[in-house]
Amino acid sequence: MKRKMKYIGMVSILFVVLGCQQKNATKAKDEPAMTMHMDSNAFAGKINDQEVHLFELKNKRGVHAYLTNFGARIVGLWVPDKQGNLRDVVLGFAKATDYNNPAEPYFGTIVGPFGNRIAKGTFQLDGQSYQLPVNNGSNTLHGGFNGVHFANWTVKSKNDSSITFAYTLPDRSEGFPGNIAMEVTYGLNEENELTIAYQAQSDKKTVINLTNHAYFNLNGEGSGSILNHQIRLFADEFTPVDSTLIPTGKLEKVIGTPFDFTVKKAIGRDINANDRQLFYGKGYDHNFVLNKQKEGGWYKAAQVTGDQSGIVMDILTEEPGIQFYSGNFMNEKVQLKNGKKDSFRTAFCLEPQHFPDSPNQSNFPSTVLIPGQIYKTKSLYRFSVY
Ligand code: BGC
Repeated sequence: MKRKMKYIGMVSILFVVLGCQQKNATKAKDEPAMTMHMDSNAFAGKINDQEVHLFELKNKRGVHAYLTNFGARIVGLWVPDKQGNLRDVVLGFAKATDYNNPAEPYFGTIVGPFGNRIAKGTFQLDGQSYQLPVNNGSNTLHGGFNGVHFANWTVKSKNDSSITFAYTLPDRSEGFPGNIAMEVTYGLNEENELTIAYQAQSDKKTVINLTNHAYFNLNGEGSGSILNHQIRLFADEFTPVDSTLIPTGKLEKVIGTPFDFTVKKAIGRDINANDRQLFYGKGYDHNFVLNKQKEGGWYKAAQVTGDQSGIVMDILTEEPGIQFYSGNFMNEKVQLKNGKKDSFRTAFCLEPQHFPDSPNQSNFPSTVLIPGQIYKTKSLYRFSVY
């Protein structure tokens, strides 16, 4: 019996090996082999007594996006490089339970109800003051300690090309007024475009600023520094900050400064310049004011190219700004999917959003949501090769 099992085992290994060779031999350059890149059984688990699962979106050109309901986050994103091989361009963890970690809570997640900072965690609506817990020096960052990144979202609908997550943040959770009902839909099409559509409603006047916090490395997760990635931002202005990274309220021209990405340049070219803003951010950690240059129904926001992979990511959005963060606080706290560490500046984030601290800055586009109004916004990430 034992011998028979051993024999069956060896025969199946042989078939798998032959199968793989066959697949590689017939693989066309623009049609990467379809493989399952993440193990859904190993990934699944329970967080706060609720089940967490792995979901997959895929298209015919080989792109695979992996998502989970914990934080409604992207955990893996495999796209073809210039050789036609797939690379995973987002940082993440191999197991769902690893995401329940206050030391590194934002990989790929939806942040909200208010992405980025609110000064001193306080704001006013109709003369009433609201105080949020402060979790970032003297300020509130990304919705506080228990923003939606630590929520177990439910799956409202799912097919091969789209998934909708839903979550209602109860009134006064993390201090925000209103029961805020949110929906986030990820969609993948045959043009290698991943869209994220956001929707929210509240039964009390509140503030909202949802975005996705993927950490990208277009050469592949864990493949070293991002300083040689080329980046272009469609922004002639940015919002300078104080030493706690709260915008001063001014809009400043980028021309002639290290913040000028209007022409493509390496992320690292000016990152060590002697500049007060770079000193405050420990690198780039700033909101750029988009020029509102239209492409279809979108604003052009950013274009980034991986120097080794040739993978190009275009970001288009309906949002007025984009936060560019060059991974300055990454310091090998955690282990990634592929076993590598999250070393300093081995990923960057580009978060399309309203401007930080908008609830306290009357000259910034409003982030107020009133009952009866539906908050709707979307952003698109297009992958191609150079
Ligand atoms: C913020 C950074 C912060 C990072 C955390 C970014 O959106 O601007 O200051 O360290 O998120 O992942």
